[in-house]
Parts: sequence; structure tokens; C-alpha cells
Amino acid sequence: PARAIAAMAAQEPADLDALNAVIRGSEPLVPGATQAVLGEGPLGAAIAFVGEQPGDQEDLQGRPFVGPAGQLLSQALREAGIDRERAYLTNAVKHFKFELRGKRRIHRKPTAGEVAHYRWWLDRELAFVAPRLVVALGATAVLALTGRQVPITRARGPATFGEKPYAGFVTVHPSYLLRLPDEARGEAYAGFLEDLRRASTLAE
Ligand code: URA
Repeated sequence: PARAIAAMAAQEPADLDALNAVIRGSEPLVPGATQAVLGEGPLGAAIAFVGEQPGDQEDLQGRPFVGPAGQLLSQALREAGIDRERAYLTNAVKHFKFELRGKRRIHRKPTAGEVAHYRWWLDRELAFVAPRLVVALGATAVLALTGRQVPITRARGPATFGEKPYAGFVTVHPSYLLRLPDEARGEAYAGFLEDLRRASTLAE
């Protein structure tokens, strides 16, 4: 909505802390999240990773990539020789969206409209962090970074995300690996590692 966009533009933040304060103070687009989950990592990180949206654990702990998919990502980063502490990790959407099944909160994929709502923030966030390379983890991140719906199989590998000062790279989301049947996961994980190693080279 035009009014929301005008209100956001009026809050043009001067730096990442100011931007994060705006994000932290914002209401979730879909009610229910405990808190906004901000990006994490040093300003000037050579490589930044963009996921989809915080999951159940991220929502409770207030940190990105700390649940099952995050742990798999951490393991893969380690195996690919990327120091998680020196990378910047964030999400396209900053609030968890879920449906209740009994007591379990089941992740619901953000809509294109929700992704568009958060794009303004992601754009500024990455401008402040100023990485050399941005890695999109999965299709929602690609949508957030390019405004386009592209199948990962087509977009996978080096990419450009519009007129940006950073290079781009597209790979799968770690939660995709977790959803694969056991017999397919090993090969898919090896492909993910290969992507991460290649991305790491491009970020040098
Ligand atoms: N999946 C994501 O995309 N981001 C997180 O932070 C956790 C899981």
C-alpha cells in the first residue's frame, strides 16, 4: 500500500543499527511472530547469505539460522571452509509465519506480496553490509533479490541481482535438503557443498 511505503521512506535509516531498530519495532505483516529476526554478522562481510524467513527456533531465539536448517547450513559452511562468524546471514522476510497443528507451529511459505513488503529493508540492509557476494538460498531469496520467480534449477550458480555493487550466486535452501528422502540427500548435499565452495571463491 502507498501509505506504508511512504511511511517507510520517511524513516530512511542512516545506518544498519538505525535500520534494525525500524525492523525490530515493526509489526509482523501476518500476526503471530514473537519478534523480528534481524540479520547477523559483521559489516563488510565478504559474503552474505539470504534465506527465506525465520523458522520456529529462529522466532523464539531471535537469531537467524539456528534451527534444523540453520544447523545444516552451519555444517555445510564449515565443510566448505566458510567461517560462519565472518559471514553475514539474513532472511528475505524478517518475521516467522506459521499455522498451528496441535501445539506445533508449522512454517508457512511467505507470499510474493509479503516478500515484496520486506524487500525495501533487505535492499538497504545489504547496501549497509556491502558484501562482495550475496548468496540466495532458495527461490524466495531469489524473488526477494530480483523481483522474479525463477526455478532454482534454472537460476543455480553465479547470478546478478540487478544493478548492485555485489555479485550474486544462487543455490538451494538447506531446508530443501532436509525434506529430501534419505537416498537423495547425500548427492544433493554434495552439490550444495560444491556451490558453497564456488561461492566462497567468488567472494575472495
Ligand atoms: N530458514 C530460513 O530461511 N531462515 C532461517 O533463519 C531459518 C530457516
